[in-house]
Amino acid sequence: MSETVLELRDATIYQGDSMVLSKVNFEMKKGDFVYLIGKTGSGKSSFMKTLYGDLQLTEGEGSIVDFNLKTMKEKDIPFLRRKLGIVFQDFKLLPDRTINGNLEFVLKATGWKEKDRIKDRIDTVLDKVAMKTKGFKYPHELSGGEQQRIAIARALLNDPELILADEPTGNLDPQTSVEVMEVLQDINKNGNTILMATHDYALLLKYPSKTLKCDENKVFEVVQRKS
Ligand SMILES: Nc1ncnc2c1ncn2[C@@H]1O[C@H](COP(=O)(O)OP(=O)(O)OP(=O)(O)O)[C@@H](O)[C@H]1O
Ligand SMILES: [Mg+2]
Repeated sequence: MSETVLELRDATIYQGDSMVLSKVNFEMKKGDFVYLIGKTGSGKSSFMKTLYGDLQLTEGEGSIVDFNLKTMKEKDIPFLRRKLGIVFQDFKLLPDRTINGNLEFVLKATGWKEKDRIKDRIDTVLDKVAMKTKGFKYPHELSGGEQQRIAIARALLNDPELILADEPTGNLDPQTSVEVMEVLQDINKNGNTILMATHDYALLLKYPSKTLKCDENKVFEVVQRKS
């Protein structure tokens, strides 16, 4: 039996008083790669935020990597986020320290202490995104695509059960988007589960996978047609 990492049942998502998505039903299993598409303002980021605990789920049921999104308390959120890898459109690297410094910061903040293990883990994740030789650089010394690969490496540090990527290629040119996508495909092939919000249809066509669409306050699966 494959393992469920995410399950929503009739989950209704609000931003303040306004309903963004109504009665969402969705399940993800270990190893899945799922796209979340929909036009601007359709609710992709709100959906993601609900999953990483930035928006409270008040209606319906939801569980993610063994956390109950409805009954979860504020103090549980950091523990949920340790089991997730989150990647944003704007890479959110700390500008005042090197790549190694950025990754070390996250490991230390999540309880890693031994110097050698920290160094090994940083080498391993940088290798996964083909950035092993760039650890000494500062974020501003890297291209956008390279910075996003570092952000993906950072998301991998604590061996997440699920990676949530909200428009990870949104700030990149088409060629660089493909390079970042290749990295995401690679880590998915190595067993990582990924939910990716995007409005890049070229990527969807090039790397077809299960696709959910947000439209008119609903989320439904779309069947991709071969063009
Ligand atoms: N912090 C917020 N407070 C109130 N309303 C918000 C907030 N963030 C988003 N919304 C509203 O919720 C709806 C969904 O927005 P959301 O950001 O989830 O869309 P999206 O699909 O991610 O769009 P985009 O493609 O532009 O990123 C929109 O109507 C938006 O105006
Ligand atoms: Mg968004």
